[in-house]
Amino acid sequence: MSFSPAGTTAGPDRRDEDALRDRVARELDRTRRRTRHLTDAVDDEDLRRQHSPLMSPLVWDLAHVGSQEELWLVRDVGGRDPLRPDIDDLYDAFRHGRADRPALPLLSPTEARRYVASVRTKALDVLADVPLEGRRLVTGAFAFGMIVQHEQQHDETMLATHQLRRGGPVLTAPPVPAPAGPPGPSEVLVPAGTFTMGTSVETWALDNERPAHPVHVPAFHIDTKAVTNARFAEFIDDGGYDRPELWSGEGWALRTGSDLRAPLFWRRDTDGRWWRRVFGRWEPVVPEEPVVHVSFHEAEAFATWCGRRLPTEAEWEKAARFDPRSGETRRYPWGDEAPTERHANLGQRHLRPAPAGAFPTGTSPLGVHQLLGDVWEWTSTTFRGYPGFAAFPYREYSEVFFGEEYRVLRGGSFGTDHTVARATFRNWDYPRRRQIFAGFRCARDARREEVG
Ligand code: AVJ
Ligand code: FE
Repeated sequence: MSFSPAGTTAGPDRRDEDALRDRVARELDRTRRRTRHLTDAVDDEDLRRQHSPLMSPLVWDLAHVGSQEELWLVRDVGGRDPLRPDIDDLYDAFRHGRADRPALPLLSPTEARRYVASVRTKALDVLADVPLEGRRLVTGAFAFGMIVQHEQQHDETMLATHQLRRGGPVLTAPPVPAPAGPPGPSEVLVPAGTFTMGTSVETWALDNERPAHPVHVPAFHIDTKAVTNARFAEFIDDGGYDRPELWSGEGWALRTGSDLRAPLFWRRDTDGRWWRRVFGRWEPVVPEEPVVHVSFHEAEAFATWCGRRLPTEAEWEKAARFDPRSGETRRYPWGDEAPTERHANLGQRHLRPAPAGAFPTGTSPLGVHQLLGDVWEWTSTTFRGYPGFAAFPYREYSEVFFGEEYRVLRGGSFGTDHTVARATFRNWDYPRRRQIFAGFRCARDARREEVG
């Protein structure tokens, strides 16, 4: 690549673009290392096995990640010939449900590894060649960022498959940091007023996070911390799972239909102590960790039990981004700086949520802890497009899921990469799902006398 003479505008632009290419290449590589780590941890038979009807075999996720990269980076952005047009159908998530994937004539682990590697070689050729401006798909390397985030999201899905997997532990990680400093108040008042929800400026933000728009939120209180295992065990001991009045009709149907009595992966021993299976290891439930692997319905019943409710999605985002001193909406709870290991428990660095107070650097201006990382947080909001939503670059990422069936989750978990865990990022799932790394925090309306 040649340099323009100093003093022209092309020089600095070209250098910016090269810096962007380097950053994209590093992100692609870092992401692939995680994918390899998750898929190399088990043998070939295990890669092909269906660990739960809710999940794909790991070898499907692996080749699917390559297939999406081929479709978007090699064929669309690069305009290159297809590598494997014959397997498009197998790895199209809309053609075959997760439960049916093990029966498909999938690529073997060896073939899948070879396939994703050859797609990557081509994608890097495209990255070196294509101008990163002009077409919206490539501006700011959007398509590359989308593919990085796609693979990272599947890496979290694969981590959830690992958690469901039977057999001994194969993944290890360092312990989570201990809380630093006193816990502070248990809830904060968020004053009534308008904040900016969503984003129009974040280059790699996905379509459902756009556009930025003003939202007026009445005053409310929100927990400074996620609900802990200790509190959730109190709910259980108080008969929370046996009191239909605490549950919605749909929730009670789930509760009775599948005999729910505790979060997924919990067992009680004969002495009444709770144990939890964590990536193949049974251990006593840690009281001060956020509860994880609960459905929306369990979260809602818990909130009702303690006279509270789940936050709406707008409340959650305002608590995370709004700075009452300046009136501005921030990029992250702590400011503009991209997440580091001081800010939040993200990126599969630890394989569990951290207790409240473990990341004081990541606290929001309102004093709310650990909004990003640790556990996904259920909100009461169904998944919809923001005013002015436009599907981009394909309807099947978000738009086809809009409607009453899904609830929004916010904040990311210990399994979510920092390229995904924006304060505007929106996840969604069926309210009955428990295999994702989801917990919650509670909120309540502010009473008139509290607002002033
Ligand atoms: C945004 C996590 C709900 O896993 O179904 C992966 C992400 N989309 N491949 C999902 C996704 C296409 C999606 N979630
Ligand atoms: Fe996918």
